[in-house]
Amino acid sequence: MTLPPPIDITKNPHLTGAFEPIQTEIAVDDLEVVQGAIPTDLSGTYLRNGPNPRFTPLGAYVYPMEGDGMIHAITLEDGKANYRNSYVRTPMLEVEEKAGHALWPSIMSGALPGPEDVGQDLAWTFRDMPSINVACHHGTLIALAETTKSYRISPLLATLDVEDFGGAFPQGAAAHPKIDPATGELITFTYNIEAPFLQWLVLNPDGTVKSGPNTVDTGNIAYMVHDFAITKTKIVLSLNPAVLDMAAVASGGSMLQWKPDLGSKIAVIPRSGQGPTIWHDGDPFWVWHFANAFDTQEGVEVQAVTWTNLGGGLAPGFAPPKAAFETITLNDRSSNIKRNSIAERPMEFPRIDDRLTGLPHRQVAVGARGTVDSLPTGAFDGVLTIDTQTGTETFYQSDGMSLGEPCFVPSPQSETDGYYVTFATKLSDMTSYFVVLASDDVSQEPIATVKIPQRVPMGLHGAWVPSGSIGS
Ligand SMILES: [Fe+2]
Repeated sequence: MTLPPPIDITKNPHLTGAFEPIQTEIAVDDLEVVQGAIPTDLSGTYLRNGPNPRFTPLGAYVYPMEGDGMIHAITLEDGKANYRNSYVRTPMLEVEEKAGHALWPSIMSGALPGPEDVGQDLAWTFRDMPSINVACHHGTLIALAETTKSYRISPLLATLDVEDFGGAFPQGAAAHPKIDPATGELITFTYNIEAPFLQWLVLNPDGTVKSGPNTVDTGNIAYMVHDFAITKTKIVLSLNPAVLDMAAVASGGSMLQWKPDLGSKIAVIPRSGQGPTIWHDGDPFWVWHFANAFDTQEGVEVQAVTWTNLGGGLAPGFAPPKAAFETITLNDRSSNIKRNSIAERPMEFPRIDDRLTGLPHRQVAVGARGTVDSLPTGAFDGVLTIDTQTGTETFYQSDGMSLGEPCFVPSPQSETDGYYVTFATKLSDMTSYFVVLASDDVSQEPIATVKIPQRVPMGLHGAWVPSGSIGS
């Protein structure tokens, strides 16, 4: 087939500036702490994944859905920090490296490479893009994609093999699995352009299948579902009207269509598989990321960063898209979706203390916009914490940095407090840092700022993995 031409990366805000991909893979010990001090009781590794195309993309580049995965890892021990980074080496990346250029066109092109381009084994396959998140379960590090295959990673970031989720999701799972802190179970889902459109799965702590795949009735609609939430007893899947539409591709349109007439629907599903799914309906909104959910006497409470007015990006005259941190109340006896805004400003990537996944939580942290207006989507210049009981906001305004998702790291000295860590890049000189903030007051000067010996491009999601968690 004729491959589309390489794009002009200089015109893409997610391939330039703080987002510009790097090609170097390095490992450096004992990094320079340029401010503060690394807490000496922290022992573990912060890993962060993100799209980092090895070669100039062909035809288009859709952030945050495309690109090779590159994982950056900071290991803390005895107050010192080590750094290493590596591509997630998929078969597609290996074949492209042999060719010296990209071979898989953008997902938006609707085209796949043939045997003359990539050989018989990979001909007509979709590109694996485990570039969105990284998780640790059954003693294994897993690099996660949106809907393509997930890959197991070694502690030193070597790519091992495909993670098939106990054999139940060999095609891959969504990028935001949830691990129940009480049971050690991993709950995840996958969505597809054809039936079965949406399925969920529970893995035991040892990685074997406990339940599933279980199919959710989407009314034969191929919804795109990026994230979900769990409680102790329920699974919460929000079907927002971003729909995969092959008919639109056939007529020259985008595969992803926003269809607000469908409204938004939320399914509350018993994790046990016993009992009915309760559906709730409401006006259309979009969620990239949930912070958490928990059981209440009446049903379920969910917290998420929501987006409304999504038509604003498509048609003049509409209000621009608007982000809010919301509590979404789902009463078992009502089919309504009741949304209550707690905080409003450009924000994304909500995180909590993962030890409270599925349980009532109080604090949420997000990447949030402060004084720098010029950052592309997915980049922020501050970290905002929200007390979800009082609505109190506490904001860390960086000094001209571009930064991403804050990840909670528990303090061994406290059952509730800890740190938020993230990578940050100084926009004035493009130097990158690992920043440690105190979770009880992120507005203070960081606990530590550690210089990274190379620029770390803006990425997506990360995880804190305590020492001794891998390979058990
Ligand atoms: Fe995500």
